Amino acid sequence: MRFLTILGGIIAAISSLMYFLDSHLEKFYIFTPAEMHGVAKDAIALHGNNTTAIISHIVSELHRAHPDHINLDEEWIFNNAGGAMGAMYIIHASITEYVIVFGSAVGTEGHSGRHTADDYFTILSGEQLAYSPGPGRFEPERYPQGSMHHMKRGEVKQYRMREACFALEYARGWIPPMLGFGYADTFTSTLDFYTLWRTTWVTGYEMVANLAKMKL
Ligand SMILES: *[C@@H]1O[C@H](CO)[C@@H](O)[C@H](O)[C@H]1NC(C)=O
Ligand SMILES: *[C@@H]1O[C@H](CO)[C@@H](O)[C@H](O)[C@H]1NC(C)=O
Repeated sequence: MRFLTILGGIIAAISSLMYFLDSHLEKFYIFTPAEMHGVAKDAIALHGNNTTAIISHIVSELHRAHPDHINLDEEWIFNNAGGAMGAMYIIHASITEYVIVFGSAVGTEGHSGRHTADDYFTILSGEQLAYSPGPGRFEPERYPQGSMHHMKRGEVKQYRMREACFALEYARGWIPPMLGFGYADTFTSTLDFYTLWRTTWVTGYEMVANLAKMKL
C-alpha cells in the first residue's frame, strides 16, 4: 500500500509539473507563426521560383533575428513518416520548437501524424493538398506557394505534394513526443539506420546546444 501511495504521489507530482509547463509553454517560444510566414513571403517575393535562393534568404534572415539559435549547416536528411517520404534541413530544434525545410523533388503523400505541437507549414514552392474527412468534405484543401497551412495540436490530415514541393515547417509545443512518429517508418519500413543516425545526431545536437543557452 505504501508503494502505491508513493507511486500516486510521484504521478501527481509529474502530472502537475507537466500541467504547469504546458500552461507556460508560450514563455519558451522565440519564433512566431507570423514571423515564419512573413520571412517566407518576403523570400518568395524576392526570388520567385528559385527555391535555392528562397531557402538561403530565409535562413539568413532567421539567423539575423536569432543569431544563437539557427543551424547554418545545410545538411539534407531523408525523412520517412506516416508513409510519406521527403528530405529536411533542420534549421532549429529545441524542446518546444522546431523549424525545418521539408519537401521532395518528386512529390509525396501520407499521414500527417497526430502531434503534441501546433504545426505551421508555409509552402515555398509547389503546392500541398490536404484532406480531413467529414460530411460534405469531398474537395481537397489547397495550399499554393506562399500560403500557410496551420495544423492544430492533435489534428490529423492526409496530405499530398503532387509534384516537387518544399515548405518551411514551424512546430511549437512538445517536440520530443513527435520524434516517435518521425522514427517509426525506419523500424517498420526503410531500415535506413544511417538516416536515423543523422536525424538523431542533428536533432540531439541542436536541442542540447539550445538548452545550454537556456532555450527550452
Ligand atoms: C513559378 O512557377 C509557377 C509554376 O511553374 C508559375 O505558374 C509561376 O508563374 C512562376 N512564378 C514566377 C515568379 O516565376
Ligand atoms: C538561384 O539562386 C541561386 C542562389 O542565389 C543562384 O546561384 C542561381 O544561379 C539561381 N538560379 C537561377 C535559375 O536563377
